[in-house]
Amino acid sequence: MTNFDFALLTLLCLLLPLENSTTATKMMASLVKPGIFRHLMCRNNMYPRSGVLRFPVSDDHVFWSAPYADYCPPVYTAPHIGGQVWADPPLPSEAFYPQWNQLDGQVNRESFHGAYEVKDGLPLNPIGRTGLSGRGSLGRWGPNHAADPIVTRWKRDAEGAIVANSTTGKNIIQMVAIQRSDNKLWAIPGGMVDPGENVSVTLKREFTEEALNFTDKANMVEKFFREGGVHVYSGYVDDFRNTDNAWMETTALNFHDEDGKQVGQLELMAGDDATNVRWTDVDSQLKLHANHADIVREVVILRNAHW
Ligand code: BGC
Repeated sequence: MTNFDFALLTLLCLLLPLENSTTATKMMASLVKPGIFRHLMCRNNMYPRSGVLRFPVSDDHVFWSAPYADYCPPVYTAPHIGGQVWADPPLPSEAFYPQWNQLDGQVNRESFHGAYEVKDGLPLNPIGRTGLSGRGSLGRWGPNHAADPIVTRWKRDAEGAIVANSTTGKNIIQMVAIQRSDNKLWAIPGGMVDPGENVSVTLKREFTEEALNFTDKANMVEKFFREGGVHVYSGYVDDFRNTDNAWMETTALNFHDEDGKQVGQLELMAGDDATNVRWTDVDSQLKLHANHADIVREVVILRNAHW
């Protein structure tokens, strides 16, 4: 699917459900940036940590509106999520009636992409087919919300002067990237938003756990995060765990250390779900988990940095 298709899809997602949606949904939809998200990692491969092969889905068959009479995806929900506090019970169920497209108790079942459809009692991935039904290894049916802090500083030489790229003449920005323990890919040090949790709390918590492995500079980190991040993305994540009935969405904010004297000078230490952590130069060659590089590109534009 081309970027144009995605832009069109996002526009449709945003416009169609607006009339019936809540104010919260309208506000969320206004944050979505068309064109950043993709739908590639969750198609035509083996589902991670399982022997389950996804049913083939070509570019032309992604949208639910495209007929695909032979479509017969396997059903898979990873056994280890059963009974976990962070996971929903199985569906269908006599005792579990999720309130789709709204705040369901403390669990946020709203999508940034407007109202998703519910078919045969199961929510449908707003982007389209993935070749797998069930929840895979995701805890929630429908949207699973994460938060991603993109912590940046300018690259500096030994004398402390900012380093520019010799071709573009633009300053090189660096971000804190962690290596994920599940797929070994480098990524933004994000994490799941707990039920009822404010995203700003998730952002700081995940950064502290994954990139600093806690720190004695907790007050400085607290202040750095409190003084504000700039919102860069809210929406679908092209995550390898997505299925037809469960998918990742994230809210990403940029926290920039302009003079490199705050978080920019801290010693990084990998913790929690991260096996490595480092300051990484950002440019067009950056390869990250899911569509994280597309999200980071928004920061590059925002800061007028080298790409
Ligand atoms: C990660 C986030 C990521 C999300 C979607 C979560 O497990 O912690 O950084 O954006 O998955 O891939």
